[in-house]
Amino acid sequence: MQKIKKAVFPVAGFGSRFLPATKAQPKEMLSVVDKPLIQYAVEEAVEAGITEMVFITGRNKRAIEDHFDTAYELESELEAAGKHALLEIVRSVIPNNINCIYIRQPAALGLGHAVLCARPVVGDEPFAVLLADDLMDVRPGQKSVTAQMADLYGQEGGSIVAVQDVLREFTNQYGIVSGTAYKPNLERMHGIVEKPKPEDAPSTLAVAGRYVLSGKIFNYLENLGKGSGGEIQLTDGIAAMLKDEPVFAYRCDAKRYDCGSKLGYLKASVALGLKHPDVGEEFAKYLHELMNAK
Ligand code: G1P
Repeated sequence: MQKIKKAVFPVAGFGSRFLPATKAQPKEMLSVVDKPLIQYAVEEAVEAGITEMVFITGRNKRAIEDHFDTAYELESELEAAGKHALLEIVRSVIPNNINCIYIRQPAALGLGHAVLCARPVVGDEPFAVLLADDLMDVRPGQKSVTAQMADLYGQEGGSIVAVQDVLREFTNQYGIVSGTAYKPNLERMHGIVEKPKPEDAPSTLAVAGRYVLSGKIFNYLENLGKGSGGEIQLTDGIAAMLKDEPVFAYRCDAKRYDCGSKLGYLKASVALGLKHPDVGEEFAKYLHELMNAK
């Protein structure tokens, strides 16, 4: 079974749920404690053994390229000042063996279109897709969600889509899958539909922003018309593909934070702040005081 070497990060979206913070900066550069969201996603892919990071970017997204590039002036300043610990932080944003590839999506035509833009680089290989505003926090010692899914792809030989149960009232915010139990935490997918109304949803199993897809997906994406919201939907490409080859829904137990929403972002900041080695302990004390002062 082919190893997963490439990951696609669709980062061209406007981040309109987070205005005005995202007026002049990409939503993927919003920081949770001390790292931007996109760095959490890239680290997750690196942990899965992926070496080619393909970013589908758009207007106003230059900060992402700069973040993963050498910061020459900053590095020389830190070196001259003997600030070696900080220098190490700046240099280790991305390991040396990783290649970053940037493709511009010329118009915001939807997630399916963004993924299709990666075709010239991905070819017909299987690849991962990570939506950086879904921050997936795993338990200590557990592999990253993308690493778990890459393993499953190797075992099952079919595309893997991460899912989690949501309340029925929220089905209209997600891709929703239907399937039959196949193995523990794995369903054989029979259908997937983008953002159905609660009364129409085939289940409450919602797609979290992680996919490992067969390279065949591009053949389906290129023939799609507009779907939900007038956009070319990745969900519709997967729905077409699963008629011809197996797709599995993986119930992953990571804690998912929707950092494209204000509340999800705040929750992630508190949860990861409490775990942070530099500030966690003091932050816990502060929160405690805050609650008791009520
Ligand atoms: C996208 C996908 C949707 C998925 C969601 C996960 O929607 O289209 O199927 O459930 O990400 O975050 P978006 O949140 O971009 O509207």
